[in-house]
Amino acid sequence: MICLGIEGTAHSIGVGVVKDVNGKCRVFSNLIKIYRPEQGGIHPREAANHHAIYLADLIKESVAKAGIDFTDVDLVSFSKGPGLGPCLRTAATAARALSLTLNKPIIGVNHCVAHLEIGRGTLEDCNDPVLLYTSGANTQVIAFAEGRYRVFGETLDVGIGNCIDKFGRIVGIEFPCGPRIEEIAAKGKNYLELPYSIKGMDIAFSGLLTVAEQYYKKGERLEDICYSIQETTFAALTEVTERAMAHTEKDEVLLGGGVAANKRLRGMVQIMANERGASFFVPSKDLCIDNGAMIAWLGLLMHNSGIRMKIKNSLINQRFRTDMVDVTWRD
Ligand code: ATP
Ligand code: FE2
Repeated sequence: MICLGIEGTAHSIGVGVVKDVNGKCRVFSNLIKIYRPEQGGIHPREAANHHAIYLADLIKESVAKAGIDFTDVDLVSFSKGPGLGPCLRTAATAARALSLTLNKPIIGVNHCVAHLEIGRGTLEDCNDPVLLYTSGANTQVIAFAEGRYRVFGETLDVGIGNCIDKFGRIVGIEFPCGPRIEEIAAKGKNYLELPYSIKGMDIAFSGLLTVAEQYYKKGERLEDICYSIQETTFAALTEVTERAMAHTEKDEVLLGGGVAANKRLRGMVQIMANERGASFFVPSKDLCIDNGAMIAWLGLLMHNSGIRMKIKNSLINQRFRTDMVDVTWRD
């Protein structure tokens, strides 16, 4: 079966075409367009307008790049949530139109679960991982337990990517700020004390952001501040991930989300995994960030396990939680 998936939860609009080959995910195409606000944060309506402008062409290009015809598409999937309402609606509307035009089934999927399943689907020996999902808006530690993907820990305020981007904006770095801050942090040497805030299994970043801003205003070296932000936030993420692994007795860890591109984060999690004798996995970058292929793959898994959705039930859900999904396709 071939599935075309449309991702549109936030900044990115993506269209991917994938096929199930003996239970593994073969990606035929995976095209993404990212909305970059001229200044300030993301405006949901403007992001949705951006997605609407590019989506029809992106669908055509993705089908062409996959080397298939529209008639070869067996299933259409879309990101049902969580995310920004106008963006989700734009992606879902396109998916409905495509499903009706092609007369092929439609399925709406959970974006966070898709981040985990694309790792299992594309990486050899990645079977039952604890996912550390770190993106702009999301920061969650997710693992499978008793029929659901459960959230073992998450941010209590902003996502780690947004935290980094907010600091970047304060110091005049262009969005998205993660890659540049990583470069600057590599030149930092002196650790500046920052709040390390873990509550139970959850993490908070806003206090750290305030103190980092104060350091900047006091004239501390930007290199040292960026270094300290990375060391503190990534250590907290690694600690919560390790605790989830210990609790669930799992010996695989998977990274997902745009922040997984960061070498220091990868390094820290890798060390933790090595020390526990666990395996460490990161999907390729285009499958780590928000993308259509992961939406397509989860759509296929759900469809193959017998789940069906009618157009009238294909509503979006801005607050679609990871643990609301009944996981029928694995045990
Ligand atoms: P979601 O809806 O999943 O929250 P998003 O569009 O906010 O999606 P992604 O595309 O997964 O997120 O990731 C974007 C984030 O990743 C941005 O906040 C960006 O700054 C961050 N990022 C990208 N590269 C790096 C890096 N090398 N180091 C740290 N952060 C990074
Ligand atoms: Fe995401």
